[in-house]
Amino acid sequence: MSRLILALDVYERERALEIAECTADYLWAIKVNWPLIIGSGLKIITELKQVTGLPIIADLKLADIPNTNRLIAKKVFEAGADYVIAHGFVGRDSVKAVMELGKTIIVVEMSHPGAKEFIQPVTDKLIEMANELGPFGVIAPATRPERVSYIRSKLKPGIKVITPGVGAQGGTASEVLKAGADYIIVGRAIYQSENPRESARRIFEEVEAWS
Ligand code: C5P
Repeated sequence: MSRLILALDVYERERALEIAECTADYLWAIKVNWPLIIGSGLKIITELKQVTGLPIIADLKLADIPNTNRLIAKKVFEAGADYVIAHGFVGRDSVKAVMELGKTIIVVEMSHPGAKEFIQPVTDKLIEMANELGPFGVIAPATRPERVSYIRSKLKPGIKVITPGVGAQGGTASEVLKAGADYIIVGRAIYQSENPRESARRIFEEVEAWS
């Protein structure tokens, strides 16, 4: 089974469906973020599932009070999302509200430079919370393989480590898999390339070499 997740951050429905269809053979799942939901509506989740048969991860990075997190997550799971990504820093009650509705992935660290300012200092506490709540997985930064190793070492076995930041943000698949990632997320390096299918195939093969 593939360990590659496509971050499908385009606005247009047709383009999204076209890229999803031509790369699906090499993917484990498709991650949908706000750009696509704002551009194409929530029904794109249902359509992507129908067209590819792949699991859909809704990367909404939910960060609200429990009731609002619940109201949003309910509609997203109903649309067919298999996993919802939620921020952990808002606290256990907000995360639990999402977990009660379906499989959840908790952000414990982010991949951009600014993540060092506020998130990285509390990563240990976020890992502790993940270990206590037992989500499907956590998000860790492919741009910092040493942090992926650290997060993996502190995390209970069985909780998956999912890492965005490969490609456009500078991370490499082999390094982050060596560091202990279970899945890698790749966006621009696939959907902005001239041949998305070929780019997905190349990254898939790099991942396979480490599996
Ligand atoms: O285009 P690129 O490969 O950089 O896309 C990465 C995707 O992963 C984007 O959808 C981004 O929002 C998401 N992400 C991230 N870093 C995190 C969490 C999510 O880059 N810590």
